[in-house]
Amino acid sequence: MPLVTYILRDGERREIDVPDGTSVMEAAIYNNLRGIDAECGGCLSCATCHVYIDESSTAQLPPPDESESELLDGVAAERRPESRLSCQLVANAAMNGLIVQIPQRQG
Ligand code: FES
Repeated sequence: MPLVTYILRDGERREIDVPDGTSVMEAAIYNNLRGIDAECGGCLSCATCHVYIDESSTAQLPPPDESESELLDGVAAERRPESRLSCQLVANAAMNGLIVQIPQRQG
């Protein structure tokens, strides 16, 4: 169960133990974290679960696949090299230490 740190829009940091198999988006919703809207519920069609992977993060992440990368072109906030869709980040041990920053807007 990796420990994931969320940096909220106001700078508050929240550490969440995300159960294996649960996405970073789902864990945010279950823990009432503000700023990840996830309008499509994780179906990879809304891009409102956008996060930035913090450069100090030690987690090992696979790169975004083609579908995620295409949808990242439509995020409301600036797309950056470290942009990811949190519904596609499914927790596993390699994700321990992940730090994600929630952008200032999702829509
Ligand atoms: S929740 Fe809609 S794309 Fe991630």
